[in-house]
Amino acid sequence: MRMIDIIEKKRDKKALSKKEIAFAIEGYVKERIPDYQMSSLLMAIYFNGMTDDEATALTEAILKSGKIMDLSAIEGTIVDKHSTGGVGDKTTLVLGPLVASCGAKVAKLSGRGLGHTGGTLDKLESIAGFNISLSTEAFVDQVNKINIAVAGQTSELAPADKLLYALRDVTGTVPSIPLIASSIMSKKLASGADVIVLDVKIGEGAFMKTLEDARTLSKLMVKIGENFGKKVIAFITDMSEPLGYAIGNKLEVLEAVRTLQGNGPSDLQVLCTEIGSYLVHHAGITDSLKEARKMIEKRISSLEASDTFKALIEAQGGKIPDLNDYIHTEGIIAVKSEYAGYVERLNALDIGLAAMRLGAGRETKEDTIDQDVGIVLNKKVGDKVEKDEVLAYVYNNKEDITEEIKTILNAFTITESIVEKKPLIIEIIE
Ligand code: URA
Repeated sequence: MRMIDIIEKKRDKKALSKKEIAFAIEGYVKERIPDYQMSSLLMAIYFNGMTDDEATALTEAILKSGKIMDLSAIEGTIVDKHSTGGVGDKTTLVLGPLVASCGAKVAKLSGRGLGHTGGTLDKLESIAGFNISLSTEAFVDQVNKINIAVAGQTSELAPADKLLYALRDVTGTVPSIPLIASSIMSKKLASGADVIVLDVKIGEGAFMKTLEDARTLSKLMVKIGENFGKKVIAFITDMSEPLGYAIGNKLEVLEAVRTLQGNGPSDLQVLCTEIGSYLVHHAGITDSLKEARKMIEKRISSLEASDTFKALIEAQGGKIPDLNDYIHTEGIIAVKSEYAGYVERLNALDIGLAAMRLGAGRETKEDTIDQDVGIVLNKKVGDKVEKDEVLAYVYNNKEDITEEIKTILNAFTITESIVEKKPLIIEIIE
Protein backbone atom coordinates (compact mmCIF):
# COMPACT_ATOMS: atom_id res chain seq x y z
CA MET A 1 0.00 0.00 0.00
CA ARG A 2 1.27 3.53 -0.76
CA MET A 3 0.24 6.82 0.89
CA ILE A 4 0.25 8.60 -2.49
CA ASP A 5 -2.51 6.27 -3.75
CA ILE A 6 -4.59 6.95 -0.63
CA ILE A 7 -4.19 10.73 -1.05
CA GLU A 8 -5.17 10.54 -4.75
CA LYS A 9 -8.20 8.39 -3.97
CA LYS A 10 -9.52 10.92 -1.44
CA ARG A 11 -8.61 13.80 -3.75
CA ASP A 12 -10.82 12.13 -6.40
CA LYS A 13 -13.73 11.95 -3.91
CA LYS A 14 -13.64 8.17 -3.46
CA ALA A 15 -14.23 6.44 -0.13
CA LEU A 16 -11.17 4.98 1.59
CA SER A 17 -11.22 1.46 2.97
CA LYS A 18 -10.70 0.65 6.65
CA LYS A 19 -7.28 -0.84 5.75
CA GLU A 20 -6.19 2.30 3.90
CA ILE A 21 -7.20 4.54 6.80
CA ALA A 22 -5.42 2.30 9.32
CA PHE A 23 -2.31 2.28 7.07
CA ALA A 24 -2.21 6.09 6.95
CA ILE A 25 -2.71 6.63 10.70
CA GLU A 26 -0.37 3.89 11.83
CA GLY A 27 2.27 4.99 9.33
CA TYR A 28 2.02 8.59 10.50
CA VAL A 29 2.33 7.71 14.20
CA LYS A 30 5.34 5.49 13.43
CA GLU A 31 6.89 8.32 11.37
CA ARG A 32 6.88 6.28 8.13
CA ILE A 33 4.57 8.88 6.60
CA PRO A 34 5.86 12.47 6.57
CA ASP A 35 3.90 15.58 7.63
CA TYR A 36 3.54 16.80 4.03
CA GLN A 37 1.72 13.66 2.92
CA MET A 38 -0.55 13.58 5.98
CA SER A 39 -1.29 17.31 5.51
CA SER A 40 -2.31 16.58 1.96
CA LEU A 41 -4.65 13.78 3.03
CA LEU A 42 -6.18 15.99 5.75
CA MET A 43 -6.84 18.74 3.20
CA ALA A 44 -8.45 16.21 0.82
CA ILE A 45 -10.69 15.07 3.72
CA TYR A 46 -11.46 18.70 4.56
CA PHE A 47 -12.70 19.34 1.01
CA ASN A 48 -14.26 15.99 0.12
CA GLY A 49 -15.52 14.76 3.50
CA MET A 50 -15.91 11.16 4.61
CA THR A 51 -18.72 8.61 4.72
CA ASP A 52 -19.93 7.45 8.15
CA ASP A 53 -18.01 4.19 7.64
CA GLU A 54 -14.80 6.07 6.85
CA ALA A 55 -15.23 8.30 9.91
CA THR A 56 -15.81 5.19 12.05
CA ALA A 57 -12.66 3.59 10.61
CA LEU A 58 -10.69 6.78 11.27
CA THR A 59 -11.97 6.84 14.87
CA GLU A 60 -10.92 3.22 15.31
CA ALA A 61 -7.45 3.83 13.85
CA ILE A 62 -6.89 6.82 16.18
CA LEU A 63 -8.30 4.87 19.15
CA LYS A 64 -5.98 1.92 18.45
CA SER A 65 -2.91 4.17 18.30
CA GLY A 66 -2.83 4.09 22.11
CA LYS A 67 -4.14 2.47 25.26
CA ILE A 68 -7.80 1.98 26.04
CA MET A 69 -8.64 2.53 29.72
CA ASP A 70 -9.51 -0.74 31.38
CA LEU A 71 -12.32 0.21 33.72
CA SER A 72 -13.73 -3.30 34.02
CA ALA A 73 -13.01 -3.25 37.79
CA ILE A 74 -15.58 -0.47 38.21
CA GLU A 75 -18.92 -1.87 39.35
CA GLY A 76 -21.84 -0.20 37.58
CA THR A 77 -22.47 1.84 34.46
CA ILE A 78 -19.79 4.40 33.68
CA VAL A 79 -21.03 7.70 32.35
CA ASP A 80 -19.13 10.52 30.71
CA LYS A 81 -19.83 13.92 29.25
CA HIS A 82 -17.87 15.95 26.77
CA SER A 83 -18.30 19.55 25.75
CA THR A 84 -16.93 20.89 22.50
CA GLY A 85 -15.72 23.87 24.52
CA GLY A 86 -17.22 27.12 25.62
CA VAL A 87 -16.84 30.24 27.73
CA GLY A 88 -17.78 29.90 31.41
CA ASP A 89 -18.46 26.21 30.83
CA LYS A 90 -18.16 24.69 34.30
CA THR A 91 -20.74 21.96 33.55
CA THR A 92 -18.41 19.07 34.44
CA LEU A 93 -17.81 20.48 37.93
CA VAL A 94 -21.55 20.42 38.57
CA LEU A 95 -22.64 17.39 36.56
CA GLY A 96 -19.96 15.01 37.82
CA PRO A 97 -20.86 15.20 41.53
CA LEU A 98 -24.56 15.53 40.67
CA VAL A 99 -24.86 12.26 38.74
CA ALA A 100 -22.38 10.52 41.07
CA SER A 101 -24.68 11.37 43.99
CA CYS A 102 -27.47 9.60 42.06
CA GLY A 103 -25.38 6.41 41.81
CA ALA A 104 -23.85 6.74 38.33
CA LYS A 105 -20.11 6.03 38.03
CA VAL A 106 -18.14 9.05 36.86
CA ALA A 107 -14.63 8.09 35.70
CA LYS A 108 -13.68 11.36 34.08
CA LEU A 109 -10.56 12.26 32.18
CA SER A 110 -10.37 15.98 31.52
CA GLY A 111 -8.17 18.43 29.68
CA ARG A 112 -6.72 21.89 30.14
CA GLY A 113 -8.01 25.05 28.54
CA LEU A 114 -6.40 26.86 25.66
CA GLY A 115 -7.36 30.20 24.14
CA HIS A 116 -10.76 31.60 25.04
CA THR A 117 -12.16 28.34 26.43
CA GLY A 118 -11.36 27.08 29.92
CA GLY A 119 -10.48 23.53 30.94
CA THR A 120 -11.89 21.46 33.79
CA LEU A 121 -8.42 20.52 35.05
CA ASP A 122 -7.40 24.16 35.46
CA LYS A 123 -10.59 24.84 37.39
CA LEU A 124 -10.07 21.87 39.71
CA GLU A 125 -6.43 22.77 40.24
CA SER A 126 -7.51 26.20 41.48
CA ILE A 127 -8.63 24.29 44.61
CA ALA A 128 -5.55 24.16 46.88
CA GLY A 129 -3.92 20.72 46.89
CA PHE A 130 -6.23 19.10 44.30
CA ASN A 131 -4.24 16.33 42.59
CA ILE A 132 -5.17 15.42 39.02
CA SER A 133 -2.48 12.76 38.52
CA LEU A 134 -3.94 9.45 39.65
CA SER A 135 -2.69 5.96 38.82
CA THR A 136 -5.28 3.80 37.06
CA GLU A 137 -5.58 1.74 40.24
CA ALA A 138 -6.22 4.77 42.47
CA PHE A 139 -8.64 6.18 39.88
CA VAL A 140 -10.68 2.95 39.73
CA ASP A 141 -10.62 2.54 43.55
CA GLN A 142 -11.90 6.07 44.05
CA VAL A 143 -14.78 5.59 41.58
CA ASN A 144 -15.76 2.37 43.37
CA LYS A 145 -15.67 4.18 46.73
CA ILE A 146 -17.30 7.56 46.07
CA ASN A 147 -18.64 7.12 42.49
CA ILE A 148 -16.40 9.83 41.03
CA ALA A 149 -12.79 10.58 40.11
CA VAL A 150 -11.44 13.26 37.77
CA ALA A 151 -7.93 12.97 36.38
CA GLY A 152 -5.80 14.46 33.62
CA GLN A 153 -5.88 12.87 30.18
CA THR A 154 -2.68 10.90 29.73
CA SER A 155 -0.66 11.00 26.54
CA GLU A 156 -1.12 7.23 26.27
CA LEU A 157 -4.74 7.65 25.15
CA ALA A 158 -5.21 8.21 21.40
CA PRO A 159 -1.69 9.62 20.76
CA ALA A 160 -2.50 9.84 17.03
CA ASP A 161 -5.09 12.49 17.86
CA LYS A 162 -2.49 14.72 19.49
CA LEU A 163 -0.22 14.46 16.43
CA LEU A 164 -3.05 14.96 13.96
CA TYR A 165 -4.54 17.87 15.90
CA ALA A 166 -1.20 19.70 15.96
CA LEU A 167 -0.90 19.22 12.20
CA ARG A 168 -4.52 20.30 11.58
CA ASP A 169 -3.92 23.38 13.67
CA VAL A 170 -1.19 24.62 11.31
CA THR A 171 -2.68 23.42 8.01
CA GLY A 172 -6.16 24.98 8.20
CA THR A 173 -7.88 21.61 8.59
CA VAL A 174 -9.39 21.86 12.08
CA PRO A 175 -12.98 22.71 11.02
CA SER A 176 -13.76 19.44 9.24
CA ILE A 177 -16.74 17.52 10.62
CA PRO A 178 -15.34 13.96 10.15
CA LEU A 179 -11.97 15.06 11.56
CA ILE A 180 -13.58 16.69 14.62
CA ALA A 181 -15.93 13.72 15.15
CA SER A 182 -13.15 11.13 15.00
CA SER A 183 -10.90 13.26 17.20
CA ILE A 184 -13.52 13.63 19.94
CA MET A 185 -14.93 10.10 19.71
CA SER A 186 -11.53 8.34 19.71
CA LYS A 187 -10.70 10.03 23.03
CA LYS A 188 -14.13 9.35 24.52
CA LEU A 189 -14.01 5.68 23.49
CA ALA A 190 -10.46 5.32 24.84
CA SER A 191 -11.68 6.66 28.20
CA GLY A 192 -13.89 3.61 28.63
CA ALA A 193 -17.40 5.02 29.40
CA ASP A 194 -20.62 3.16 28.56
CA VAL A 195 -22.95 6.15 28.29
CA ILE A 196 -21.70 9.43 26.83
CA VAL A 197 -23.46 12.78 26.52
CA LEU A 198 -21.86 15.20 24.08
CA ASP A 199 -22.56 18.88 24.54
CA VAL A 200 -22.12 20.37 21.07
CA LYS A 201 -22.03 24.14 21.39
CA ILE A 202 -22.95 26.55 18.65
CA GLY A 203 -22.42 30.26 18.33
CA GLU A 204 -19.79 32.95 18.61
CA GLY A 205 -17.61 31.24 21.22
CA ALA A 206 -17.83 27.74 19.72
CA PHE A 207 -16.30 25.51 17.01
CA MET A 208 -19.61 25.04 15.21
CA LYS A 209 -21.13 28.27 13.98
CA THR A 210 -24.38 26.97 12.48
CA LEU A 211 -27.16 24.63 13.59
CA GLU A 212 -26.81 22.64 10.39
CA ASP A 213 -23.11 21.89 11.03
CA ALA A 214 -23.75 21.12 14.70
CA ARG A 215 -26.52 18.70 13.69
CA THR A 216 -24.31 16.92 11.15
CA LEU A 217 -21.45 16.64 13.66
CA SER A 218 -23.81 15.40 16.40
CA LYS A 219 -25.45 12.77 14.20
CA LEU A 220 -22.05 11.50 13.06
CA MET A 221 -20.73 11.18 16.63
CA VAL A 222 -23.90 9.40 17.79
CA LYS A 223 -23.51 6.99 14.83
CA ILE A 224 -19.82 6.36 15.55
CA GLY A 225 -20.69 5.64 19.21
CA GLU A 226 -23.41 3.23 18.12
CA ASN A 227 -20.93 1.44 15.82
CA PHE A 228 -18.77 0.85 18.91
CA GLY A 229 -21.72 -0.38 21.00
CA LYS A 230 -21.94 2.76 23.17
CA LYS A 231 -24.95 4.88 24.02
CA VAL A 232 -24.18 8.39 22.81
CA ILE A 233 -26.57 11.34 23.12
CA ALA A 234 -25.75 14.75 21.68
CA PHE A 235 -27.12 17.99 23.12
CA ILE A 236 -26.86 20.99 20.80
CA THR A 237 -26.63 24.06 23.03
CA ASP A 238 -26.26 27.78 22.52
CA MET A 239 -22.86 29.36 23.18
CA SER A 240 -23.51 32.79 21.78
CA GLU A 241 -23.26 34.13 25.34
CA PRO A 242 -21.21 32.64 28.22
CA LEU A 243 -22.73 29.90 30.37
CA GLY A 244 -23.65 31.20 33.82
CA TYR A 245 -22.19 34.45 35.10
CA ALA A 246 -18.63 33.54 36.12
CA ILE A 247 -15.60 33.23 33.84
CA GLY A 248 -12.25 32.44 35.46
CA ASN A 249 -11.05 29.42 37.40
CA LYS A 250 -11.84 30.07 41.08
CA LEU A 251 -14.87 32.16 40.14
CA GLU A 252 -16.23 29.19 38.20
CA VAL A 253 -15.59 26.78 41.08
CA LEU A 254 -17.61 29.10 43.32
CA GLU A 255 -20.46 29.23 40.81
CA ALA A 256 -20.38 25.43 40.44
CA VAL A 257 -20.63 24.94 44.22
CA ARG A 258 -23.56 27.34 44.41
CA THR A 259 -25.26 25.50 41.55
CA LEU A 260 -24.81 22.18 43.35
CA GLN A 261 -26.52 23.79 46.35
CA GLY A 262 -29.43 24.97 44.21
CA ASN A 263 -28.37 28.62 44.07
CA GLY A 264 -26.77 28.72 40.62
CA PRO A 265 -27.64 30.63 37.47
CA SER A 266 -30.72 29.21 35.79
CA ASP A 267 -29.04 28.39 32.44
CA LEU A 268 -26.34 26.29 34.13
CA GLN A 269 -28.87 24.67 36.45
CA VAL A 270 -31.16 23.71 33.54
CA LEU A 271 -28.31 22.33 31.42
CA CYS A 272 -26.91 20.23 34.26
CA THR A 273 -30.33 18.91 35.24
CA GLU A 274 -31.15 17.94 31.65
CA ILE A 275 -27.79 16.33 30.75
CA GLY A 276 -27.72 14.75 34.21
CA SER A 277 -31.12 13.15 33.79
CA TYR A 278 -30.09 11.57 30.48
CA LEU A 279 -26.93 10.17 32.10
CA VAL A 280 -28.76 8.85 35.17
CA HIS A 281 -31.60 7.35 33.15
CA HIS A 282 -29.36 5.70 30.53
CA ALA A 283 -27.11 4.36 33.29
CA GLY A 284 -30.17 2.28 34.22
CA ILE A 285 -30.71 4.00 37.58
CA THR A 286 -34.26 5.14 36.81
CA ASP A 287 -37.02 3.83 34.52
CA SER A 288 -37.73 7.20 32.97
CA LEU A 289 -36.17 10.59 32.31
CA LYS A 290 -38.85 12.16 34.49
CA GLU A 291 -37.80 10.05 37.47
CA ALA A 292 -34.14 10.88 36.81
CA ARG A 293 -34.96 14.59 36.77
CA LYS A 294 -36.77 14.25 40.11
CA MET A 295 -33.85 12.35 41.62
CA ILE A 296 -31.43 15.06 40.50
CA GLU A 297 -33.56 17.83 41.99
CA LYS A 298 -33.71 15.89 45.26
CA ARG A 299 -29.93 15.41 45.39
CA ILE A 300 -29.51 19.16 45.01
CA SER A 301 -32.05 20.16 47.66
CA SER A 302 -30.76 17.58 50.16
CA LEU A 303 -27.18 18.84 49.58
CA GLU A 304 -26.07 15.28 48.74
CA ALA A 305 -24.70 16.51 45.39
CA SER A 306 -22.72 19.24 47.12
CA ASP A 307 -21.41 16.69 49.66
CA THR A 308 -20.25 14.48 46.78
CA PHE A 309 -18.23 17.40 45.41
CA LYS A 310 -16.63 17.81 48.85
CA ALA A 311 -15.87 14.07 48.92
CA LEU A 312 -14.23 14.37 45.49
CA ILE A 313 -12.07 17.28 46.63
CA GLU A 314 -10.98 15.47 49.79
CA ALA A 315 -10.32 12.17 48.01
CA GLN A 316 -7.94 13.93 45.63
CA GLY A 317 -6.04 15.80 48.35
CA GLY A 318 -7.77 19.18 48.00
CA LYS A 319 -8.78 21.61 50.72
CA ILE A 320 -12.50 22.41 50.86
CA PRO A 321 -12.69 26.08 49.87
CA ASP A 322 -14.04 28.64 52.31
CA LEU A 323 -16.52 30.25 49.95
CA ASN A 324 -16.48 33.55 51.82
CA ASP A 325 -12.72 33.92 51.66
CA TYR A 326 -11.75 32.26 48.41
CA ILE A 327 -10.89 34.87 45.81
CA HIS A 328 -8.07 37.33 46.36
CA THR A 329 -7.35 39.97 43.75
CA GLU A 330 -5.85 43.42 43.94
CA GLY A 331 -8.95 44.99 42.51
CA ILE A 332 -12.55 44.43 41.51
CA ILE A 333 -13.54 46.87 38.81
CA ALA A 334 -17.13 47.50 37.76
CA VAL A 335 -17.70 47.87 34.01
CA LYS A 336 -20.72 50.16 33.54
CA SER A 337 -23.12 50.58 30.67
CA GLU A 338 -22.92 53.71 28.56
CA TYR A 339 -26.55 53.30 27.49
CA ALA A 340 -29.95 52.34 28.85
CA GLY A 341 -31.89 49.55 27.15
CA TYR A 342 -31.86 45.76 26.87
CA VAL A 343 -28.92 43.40 26.26
CA GLU A 344 -29.41 42.15 22.71
CA ARG A 345 -26.09 40.29 22.34
CA LEU A 346 -23.26 39.31 24.65
CA ASN A 347 -20.38 38.01 22.60
CA ALA A 348 -19.00 34.90 24.34
CA LEU A 349 -15.81 34.91 22.30
CA ASP A 350 -14.93 38.47 23.34
CA ILE A 351 -15.66 37.78 27.01
CA GLY A 352 -13.54 34.60 26.81
CA LEU A 353 -10.66 36.51 25.21
CA ALA A 354 -10.86 39.32 27.78
CA ALA A 355 -10.77 36.76 30.63
CA MET A 356 -7.79 35.03 29.01
CA ARG A 357 -5.90 38.33 28.73
CA LEU A 358 -6.61 39.10 32.39
CA GLY A 359 -4.68 35.89 33.07
CA ALA A 360 -7.54 33.41 33.58
CA GLY A 361 -6.54 31.40 30.49
CA ARG A 362 -3.60 30.57 28.27
CA GLU A 363 -2.79 32.05 24.89
CA THR A 364 -0.08 29.43 24.37
CA LYS A 365 0.40 26.09 26.14
CA GLU A 366 3.38 27.49 28.08
CA ASP A 367 1.46 30.40 29.70
CA THR A 368 0.70 30.21 33.41
CA ILE A 369 -2.73 30.93 34.82
CA ASP A 370 -3.80 33.37 37.54
CA GLN A 371 -6.45 31.31 39.34
CA ASP A 372 -8.14 34.26 41.07
CA VAL A 373 -8.82 36.61 38.16
CA GLY A 374 -11.77 36.68 35.80
CA ILE A 375 -15.10 38.26 34.99
CA VAL A 376 -18.47 38.03 36.72
CA LEU A 377 -21.27 39.16 34.47
CA ASN A 378 -24.02 41.22 35.99
CA LYS A 379 -26.20 41.32 32.88
CA LYS A 380 -26.97 38.74 30.22
CA VAL A 381 -29.02 38.63 27.01
CA GLY A 382 -32.59 39.86 27.59
CA ASP A 383 -31.77 41.81 30.78
CA LYS A 384 -32.84 45.43 31.21
CA VAL A 385 -29.97 47.87 31.79
CA GLU A 386 -29.93 51.45 33.05
CA LYS A 387 -27.25 53.92 32.00
CA ASP A 388 -24.23 53.54 34.35
CA GLU A 389 -25.55 50.23 35.67
CA VAL A 390 -22.90 47.52 36.11
CA LEU A 391 -22.58 45.11 33.19
CA ALA A 392 -19.75 43.07 34.66
CA TYR A 393 -17.20 42.96 37.49
CA VAL A 394 -13.56 42.38 36.62
CA TYR A 395 -11.44 40.52 39.20
CA ASN A 396 -8.02 41.77 38.39
CA ASN A 397 -4.34 41.56 39.32
CA LYS A 398 -2.90 43.48 36.34
CA GLU A 399 -1.76 47.06 36.40
CA ASP A 400 -3.46 48.27 33.25
CA ILE A 401 -6.64 46.62 31.99
CA THR A 402 -7.92 49.42 29.74
CA GLU A 403 -7.97 47.10 26.69
CA GLU A 404 -9.75 44.28 28.54
CA ILE A 405 -12.43 46.68 29.80
CA LYS A 406 -12.92 47.97 26.26
CA THR A 407 -13.32 44.39 25.00
CA ILE A 408 -15.91 43.62 27.70
CA LEU A 409 -17.89 46.79 26.91
CA ASN A 410 -17.82 46.02 23.20
CA ALA A 411 -19.02 42.46 23.86
CA PHE A 412 -22.39 43.91 24.95
CA THR A 413 -24.89 45.14 22.36
CA ILE A 414 -27.60 47.24 24.00
CA THR A 415 -30.82 47.95 22.14
CA GLU A 416 -33.90 50.03 22.94
CA SER A 417 -36.52 47.33 22.41
CA ILE A 418 -37.28 44.34 24.62
CA VAL A 419 -35.18 41.27 23.75
CA GLU A 420 -36.42 37.72 24.13
CA LYS A 421 -34.03 35.19 25.61
CA LYS A 422 -33.09 32.29 23.31
CA PRO A 423 -33.43 28.73 24.63
CA LEU A 424 -30.13 27.22 25.80
CA ILE A 425 -30.86 23.64 24.71
CA ILE A 426 -31.60 23.74 21.01
CA GLU A 427 -31.87 20.07 20.16
CA ILE A 428 -31.19 16.62 21.61
CA ILE A 429 -30.03 13.91 19.21
CA GLU A 430 -30.11 10.25 20.23
N1 URA B 1 -12.21 19.02 20.10
C1 URA B 1 -11.43 17.93 19.86
O1 URA B 1 -11.12 17.17 20.78
N2 URA B 1 -11.04 17.71 18.59
C2 URA B 1 -11.36 18.50 17.57
O2 URA B 1 -10.96 18.23 16.45
C3 URA B 1 -12.14 19.63 17.83
C4 URA B 1 -12.56 19.87 19.11
